[in-house]
Amino acid sequence: MKTLVIVAHPSLEQSRANHALIQELSLYDNIDVHNLYGEYPDGNIDIEREQQLLDKYDRIVLQFPLYWYSTPPLLKKWFDDVLTYGWAFGSEGDHLKGKEFIVATTTGASERSYRSGGSNEYTISELMRPLELSVKYTGAIYLPAFVVYDTMEVADEQLKLEAYKYMEHIRASAEELIE
Ligand SMILES: Cc1cc2nc3c(=O)[nH]c(=O)nc-3n(C[C@H](O)[C@H](O)[C@H](O)COP(=O)(O)O)c2cc1C
Repeated sequence: MKTLVIVAHPSLEQSRANHALIQELSLYDNIDVHNLYGEYPDGNIDIEREQQLLDKYDRIVLQFPLYWYSTPPLLKKWFDDVLTYGWAFGSEGDHLKGKEFIVATTTGASERSYRSGGSNEYTISELMRPLELSVKYTGAIYLPAFVVYDTMEVADEQLKLEAYKYMEHIRASAEELIE
């Protein structure tokens, strides 16, 4: 299985959590990293290039820091620009059909806050519904998300452990993830 990790972080040079996750990615074969803000600093996404890239992979991981309960803006733009009619959806738009998508996000707030009754009220799975539905709309498969919570508080050693768990998650089979 070939996996593409699309990273969308507006200031990766200042990142601790996403940086740690990306470092771990480099240790494994069959996982490629595509840094959206690095590739398109002016925000002009090369749509054909992105579509050709997606064609080559079976599993797509969308990795980003949670910004206002959502994705950083370039990843939203990526959805708007790249998942076009006739390519990603519509009667002949079947390029993403059957591919697997995984959201991998990092949050400033704690895991306890992301639950009913907690200060953020909703789980990350609930907050990711628009992404989930968009992925499903194309005929792709949406698999459970991976989340690193509490990034301001997490110690370096714990972050290393999270990075290892991230690898286990994105390399697991769909069956293992959904059981
Ligand atoms: C513009 C902005 C919006 C943010 N919104 C949220 C949010 O809605 N929920 C949350 O838990 N953290 C939020 N954060 C905190 C980031 O998610 C957190 O700093 C990031 O995941 C840490 O990852 P990094 O070390 O890779 O930058 C926000 C941060 C910024 C800069």
